[in-house]
Amino acid sequence: MKIVIVVPTYNEAENIKRLLSSALEACKKVLRHECFILVVDGNSPDGTGKIVSNTAAQNPNILLLPEREKGGLGAAYIYGFKYAMETIGADVVMEMDADFQHNPNDIPRFIDQIDKGYDYVIGSRFVKGGSIPKSWSLDRKILSVGGSIFSKIVLGIFEVSDFTSGFKASRVKGYLDRLDLDSVRSKGFAYKIDLLFKMHKLGAKIVELPIEFGVRDRGDSKMESNNFVDSLRVVLAIRINENKEFIKFLCVGSAGFVTDALLFNVLRITVFDPALSAIASGLVAMLVTYTLNNVWSFGERRIAGLAKTLVTFVVYCSSSIIPIIVRSQLVDLFVKAFGHSLVPANTGFLIGIVFGLVWNYIVYSKIIWRKVPDRN
Ligand code: GDD
Ligand code: MN
Repeated sequence: MKIVIVVPTYNEAENIKRLLSSALEACKKVLRHECFILVVDGNSPDGTGKIVSNTAAQNPNILLLPEREKGGLGAAYIYGFKYAMETIGADVVMEMDADFQHNPNDIPRFIDQIDKGYDYVIGSRFVKGGSIPKSWSLDRKILSVGGSIFSKIVLGIFEVSDFTSGFKASRVKGYLDRLDLDSVRSKGFAYKIDLLFKMHKLGAKIVELPIEFGVRDRGDSKMESNNFVDSLRVVLAIRINENKEFIKFLCVGSAGFVTDALLFNVLRITVFDPALSAIASGLVAMLVTYTLNNVWSFGERRIAGLAKTLVTFVVYCSSSIIPIIVRSQLVDLFVKAFGHSLVPANTGFLIGIVFGLVWNYIVYSKIIWRKVPDRN
């Protein structure tokens, strides 16, 4: 296998030469594989790029990929991943920092896990045996641990403890090569969260490997000040995107509900008896929600063609009629028991709505606008 260790740099002149030799030493321990180190330099003003190109001239396993300018950690990695896959032909891509906070001697342990069949190996600071620097301030510790717990809960990925670790190995075939790397959210540090989510969604076998996250050897951190807000944005954007259809469905439902409830009460007071009003307002609300769901909520799976539209519309109406009739019966029951006034009529009406909500979501998403399974 070809292993490419991507190392992004920005002003790492004091570290990079020693880092490259340590990484090469570690690579020698994985004899069964071919190992390359790809430095993605953000046009560092301190001459990091020059040091790397000099070293690369003497060693074919070291490569320099210069960026035109510093474009953020995420952008540097995506650029490096593409080069590693398309030009070097990588089977495994690793992510590692240049400042010795990631111990290059750990490299073989990551590769061992890939050899064992894992697709995504996360160097984790928050599993037994892993650690963050003792010298970190309390608020940095809390932010680091808390951020990962928050991500775990919101993203629902419970087998991972470290969501922002920067020391990783990914299998290319079936995983990294199936991702649309241009769609990774964030050009900064937060890209890690989105990439992790995408790998998990692809079904990658994930394992966490304990790492001791050291202190920076020399030079300064390049962590952007907006990192926290950006990470929060990424986590929430993923969640909203995953539940987009359900959120839209709720909006349509609310529009339907308002129409339904208003009409029910107006009709009930003016022309029809309560049971009949519930049927009439239900039918109108049904047409409103059908139209909105078809063009908006489930718009990506919109029904095409007149014949198909008619058939599904009939299926839709037949299924929606059921909760409407149930509801009318409930209203009738309540009105007969407690009298024809606002509270009893609307209590029966509301219980019926809840039943209808559950019923309709199941029918809409599982039958009418169901996902057509991918053919690959
Ligand atoms: N090319 C390029 N462009 N490289 C960059 C950029 C950039 O915009 N920003 C940072 N780097 C390089 C640095 O030179 C270093 O090698 C590596 O990326 C990590 O940057 P640091 O500045 O050392 O980051 P950190 O120590 O604050 O953050 C590390 O730990 C975090 C967890 O606490 C990183 O590993 C993060 O990914 C991780 O989330
Ligand atoms: Mn660092």
